[in-house]
Amino acid sequence: MKRKIIITGGAGFIGSHVVRLLVNKYPDYQILNLDSLTYAGNLANLRDIEEKENYTFIKGDITDEAFIENLFQTEKPDSVIHLAAESHVDRSIKDPLAFAKTNILGTMILLNAFKKLWSGQWDNKLFYHVSTDEVYGSLGEKGLFTETTSYDPNSPYSASKASSDHFVRAYGETYDLPYVISNCSNNYGSYQFPEKLIPLFINNIINNKSLPVYGDGNYTRDWLYVVDHAIAIDLIFHKGVLKETYNIGGFNEWKNIDLVKLLCQQMDAKLNRDSGTSEKLITYVKDRPGHDLRYAIDASKINTQLGWEPSVTFEEGLSKTIDWYLNNEDWLKNVTSGDYLKYYDKQYS
Ligand code: NAD
Ligand code: TYD
Repeated sequence: MKRKIIITGGAGFIGSHVVRLLVNKYPDYQILNLDSLTYAGNLANLRDIEEKENYTFIKGDITDEAFIENLFQTEKPDSVIHLAAESHVDRSIKDPLAFAKTNILGTMILLNAFKKLWSGQWDNKLFYHVSTDEVYGSLGEKGLFTETTSYDPNSPYSASKASSDHFVRAYGETYDLPYVISNCSNNYGSYQFPEKLIPLFINNIINNKSLPVYGDGNYTRDWLYVVDHAIAIDLIFHKGVLKETYNIGGFNEWKNIDLVKLLCQQMDAKLNRDSGTSEKLITYVKDRPGHDLRYAIDASKINTQLGWEPSVTFEEGLSKTIDWYLNNEDWLKNVTSGDYLKYYDKQYS
């Protein structure tokens, strides 16, 4: 079946990997990338596919109700893969309203436009909502998040994503809108904006800047290579059961400090620096308020039902990621000039 899919947030980190995968894999599909190009959106993330016939970029804001409604009425997409969001926890602590606006209101505006377009004709239509494991809150030392774990968000970011998940489900129950939701763990890989842990620290190591580890560094995250997330999204989009949720994770837990040390070792080797050089840049700084201790995903549902599993080990994925940043110095320089410096000073000074 041919599809016409609006992918929101396709110029961001994960969105650009999803767009690339679908544009290359499905020449018969029309892929419309809808993105307002915030600081996190960058068309340079899609240079390699921007000329493809099945790809169109549309600049637009998901919170602009009239624009979105008109776009849906004009383009008549049969599906939406919704990734557009404000996505950084530290920014959500400084400006929670911006997160409510984009992540909650923006999602509702998309749901309304989709409902208005197809209500009563739901066959072969799908609203795929991409979400995060952070909606489940924090784990203690043991246990894993499953699809039935209660929501318990602690940051304005995770609260806004939790709320958007609830609205998607509510539209499914109330209006029969066909949806799937996936909740994924921390992603890493190419094209990630250097405000998140791994690309921030790669950039700082390149520039011999300190590595600001929050608190004691004993916080744990479950890391997944972004290409594997995009593959999981493709699978869920095509084979996922309607109105179901799928957890996606890397089976790959790391305490921040151990991850940072591994990153330092790999970077020293790649930059021909003496072993131990980058570790000297580690600086323990004031903790993030409301910092979740541990995230870890039980990904057995997507594994057993859809046959998905991560394709690379963390050491391989991290090595590929570092190589990408080292080989794409212009991209990195471009995104770390201007407003980035203001953000950095405000966050870390
Ligand atoms: P990102 O910040 O890199 O990209 C977000 C994209 O959304 C950008 O291109 C931005 O321009 C666009 N955008 C923001 N506000 C918009 C608006 N109002 N209208 C239109 N476009 C807008 O984010 P990411 O890390 O790629 O995350 C993508 C999605 O995946 C988000 O929904 C996020 O919650 C979810 N997620 C992220 C992770 C992670 O580790 N990064 C893990 C699980 C889930
Ligand atoms: P981050 O990449 O912001 O992802 P999230 O908060 O969504 O998990 O952070 C990953 C972990 O790294 C988290 O425990 C916070 C920590 N961290 C630091 O210690 N220092 C930093 O400068 C940043 C950005 C994150």
